[in-house]
Amino acid sequence: MTILLNRREMVTVAATATGALALNQTSAAAQPNGANTRLVVGVMGTGGRGTYLATAFAGQPNVEVSIVCDADQGRAERAAAAVAKATGRAAPRSVTDFRRILDEKTVDILVVATCNHWHAPAAILGCAAGKHVYVEKPCSHNPREGELMVQSARKHNRRVQMGNQRRSYAGVIACMDELHKGAIGRVYLAQSWYQSNRPTIGRGKEAGVPKDLNYELWEGPAPHRPFRTNYLHYNWHWFWHWGNGELGNNGIHMLDLCRWGLDVNYPTRVHSSGGRYRFEDDQETPDTHMVSYEFEGRKQITWEGLSCSRQANRPYHVLFHGERGTLALSDTSYTIYDPAGKEVRREKVQGGDGPHFTNFLGTIRNGGRLNSEIEDGHKSTLLCHLGNIAQRTGRVIQCNAKDGSIVNDKPATQFWSREYQKGWEPRV
Ligand SMILES: NC(=O)c1ccc[n+]([C@@H]2O[C@H](COP(=O)([O-])OP(=O)(O)OC[C@H]3O[C@@H](n4cnc5c(N)ncnc54)[C@H](O)[C@@H]3O)[C@@H](O)[C@H]2O)c1
Repeated sequence: MTILLNRREMVTVAATATGALALNQTSAAAQPNGANTRLVVGVMGTGGRGTYLATAFAGQPNVEVSIVCDADQGRAERAAAAVAKATGRAAPRSVTDFRRILDEKTVDILVVATCNHWHAPAAILGCAAGKHVYVEKPCSHNPREGELMVQSARKHNRRVQMGNQRRSYAGVIACMDELHKGAIGRVYLAQSWYQSNRPTIGRGKEAGVPKDLNYELWEGPAPHRPFRTNYLHYNWHWFWHWGNGELGNNGIHMLDLCRWGLDVNYPTRVHSSGGRYRFEDDQETPDTHMVSYEFEGRKQITWEGLSCSRQANRPYHVLFHGERGTLALSDTSYTIYDPAGKEVRREKVQGGDGPHFTNFLGTIRNGGRLNSEIEDGHKSTLLCHLGNIAQRTGRVIQCNAKDGSIVNDKPATQFWSREYQKGWEPRV
């Protein structure tokens, strides 16, 4: 049964949870782990992605998924059943309140696969509770949250990895190595894109909250809005209040590869154009979006997001341009071309999230380097935020190359953080 809490009750529970968190600092989760340590996982958010992550983590050697959580009770129960089916073991506990994961001392890892507005607040609470965190992309809903997540990981000495799994594909690592060693000379431009055929989300109506859904917990840190029929599941991506549009949904994967290949951190100038062109409906975020980022050292990244026009003839999704050729990277291969466009060499890329999990779990057990440590995840996620800020303000954003902060632009700087529902403000 879903327990519906009012705001005051939630704040009280949050305060209680914080008390429990302090105790948790001494739990097994905060101790150094060893090579064969059994790791226990709790998964928050069990839509398509969270259910996949729950079954995938449960399938890793010496890993148990003991709790799955969704604000939608039916989804939590279905995820628990999916884990039981995949492993042949007893089903994990299913809950609607993620604080049950935080105060469970045996849980070592919090996996966050909720809507974007929950990613950073949950991850920050997870670190404070002594959990290592696997947080889905984009790691935050706004730039300030990303900065706080990095601080939180450092303060509590936790391993925090973002779910941009291409960072762990062996073929992509080899590709980046070639780029950095000069396979196409100095690389100065990375073009990227995403294409799909998404339908309209129509016009929603105010309605009663479905009986299985704890909408107050679903909203959490986002200031309350009356429930409407086309907000969830999934469509929250297209409302600024909870989502980050296609740029934060799929753009993040490509921008991260571009940033890695170009070997850059923070941009100096960000420009955006586009809008909701294909349909007239409630969607606030662009379905047609062109963004560009300039960096010190004469380098640039561009991203084209076509949410409603899938053109089959563009198989790769990042194209690097160098002084001695180009390199096209897709999920199945990378190909190097000479300056005349003649193919020089093609190498296979093997997809799959497994290596990203192995890397995360391995660093918890044995130390070593995370392939997508939260500071790197934040840098790539920040590119999405800056592109969206440029879009929403209609301004060319000037940034400080040292930390990505917005320079001399009050209207744009207002988007650096957000207003929070009382009691859920992320704090480190
Ligand atoms: N790395 C990847 O390739 C990849 C692929 C797909 C999705 N994702 C990311 O995973 C996330 C989830 O995507 P999805 O497609 O499953 O979306 P979804 O909307 O279907 O699922 C999100 C789930 O989170 C739940 N939720 C919201 N607030 C909660 C709370 N307080 N406690 C517990 N559950 C809560 C919702 O009820 C919902 O079931 C997104 O951030 C998305 O960007 C990553």
